[in-house]
Amino acid sequence: MLIIPGPASVELGKEIAKGLEARIVPMEFKTFPDGEGYIRFKGSLRNKHVAIVQSTVNDKNMLQLLFMARTAKELGAKTATAVVPYFGYARQDIMFKPGEVVSAKIVIKLMEESGIDRVVTVDIHNGKLLKHFKIRAVNLSAMPAIGEYFLKFRLMHPIVLGPDEGALEKAKAVAEVMGADYDYLIKHRDRTTGEVKTRLHKRIDVEGRDIIIVDDIISSGGTVINVISILKKMGVRPAYVGCTHPVLVHGALKKILGSGAKLVVGTNSIETKISKISLAPIIAKELKTYIKK
Ligand code: R5P
Repeated sequence: MLIIPGPASVELGKEIAKGLEARIVPMEFKTFPDGEGYIRFKGSLRNKHVAIVQSTVNDKNMLQLLFMARTAKELGAKTATAVVPYFGYARQDIMFKPGEVVSAKIVIKLMEESGIDRVVTVDIHNGKLLKHFKIRAVNLSAMPAIGEYFLKFRLMHPIVLGPDEGALEKAKAVAEVMGADYDYLIKHRDRTTGEVKTRLHKRIDVEGRDIIIVDDIISSGGTVINVISILKKMGVRPAYVGCTHPVLVHGALKKILGSGAKLVVGTNSIETKISKISLAPIIAKELKTYIKK
């Protein structure tokens, strides 16, 4: 298998290639003065299985993935696997308001039409989206790797916390690796007064314990900051924060640290300064299963 690291995932692509002892296809990427991109494959793909590694963090990265996939097939690649660690638009998965574009479904169609044969992603925001693919689509979990990362710290009787019920399975997966407790926050509205109170679902005692907040995405940081402020009111010490996708817009990292987080860590699904956990081992393991076939 040949590895094609896309511009959004250069380092991760290289690491995956190393793990697989696979060759990298030399590529040329540049941007014209008007902002349009240019991509050139500088190696042969004929009769090879290729894996294009490219998170779709923004529209440009999405187009680059589609361009690379289509061209790889036109250049004679036998199969093209799209490794899309961060799957952009996965949050726009249903029509919330009439007339809204359901971007996630269109992206899936575009990927299929570009000639992609398989998709490998990691902690996609809504796993149910995979059902819309006609091609094979696999969703890996970074949560065990996040658990392994936090095992290195000597944490006090830790609790892994999801910001909401949707993050419960993720908290559980991290906690299982650490042999820790896990829970999520639940919102309760008083039917008489209308007052909203947030509490731990299981009402476990948090006193003197370390908390790790985990989520799939940290974008503006608002979700995590809200959890930290609730925990503060419970008298909890500064929390650790882990996520798969550090999107981190509008100074999110600074804001989270400013709100009292002890440490914020993410994977290299998006290459940022907090991307301390590599997805290369789990992705390489998955790709190995295709090489054997
Ligand atoms: C939402 O359902 C996601 O799982 C994340 O909690 C959300 O995308 C985080 O966004 P933000 O950092 O902007 O609060």
